[in-house]
Amino acid sequence: MSEYRSGLGWDAHRTIAGRPLILGGVAIASEVGLDGHSDADVLSHAITDAILGAACLGDIGMHFPDTDSRWKDADSINLLRHAKALAQDAGFELVNVDATVILERPKLNDYRMAIRRSLAECLKLAADRVSVKFKTAEKVGPVGEGRSAEALAVVSVRRSAAPQKK
Ligand code: C5P
Ligand code: MG
Repeated sequence: MSEYRSGLGWDAHRTIAGRPLILGGVAIASEVGLDGHSDADVLSHAITDAILGAACLGDIGMHFPDTDSRWKDADSINLLRHAKALAQDAGFELVNVDATVILERPKLNDYRMAIRRSLAECLKLAADRVSVKFKTAEKVGPVGEGRSAEALAVVSVRRSAAPQKK
């Protein structure tokens, strides 16, 4: 019988004027963007951590430290692609992704298919294995007051092969 595992990811970034809002590699029309190292793609970061967690490979800061020039200004979708390759090298293939972005505004519903397709293309998964949901925080707390955005992700993986010897 196949061995299945799951991984959990979470991330948060401050909102800030004058920066783009990128979610799952998709640019969203918005008055505010997200602050941080790289493109601050909070959704890609949460999914990256979920993949690393499922494969027991540490976390995003361990593989892509701010201090490493290789990853400076890297698109987060490329970090996500790299995390998937690391999990594959450790003998795991992705089964599905489910994620929630918590952001007060703008409304993201119209972007659901674009984000799902972008993530599915990056992860080489069928789009029906990539789910993205959106929530507000009901005007409560830093997210609800529009000061930050958060994302949560769960990933399932199946052991496909013995880990590659390096
Ligand atoms: O947070 P709340 O339960 O009010 O969200 C209701 C719906 O609004 C969500 O299920 C989602 O479809 C949509 N939504 C959205 N963009 C957001 C937040 C919520 O499209 N930034
Ligand atoms: Mg982040």
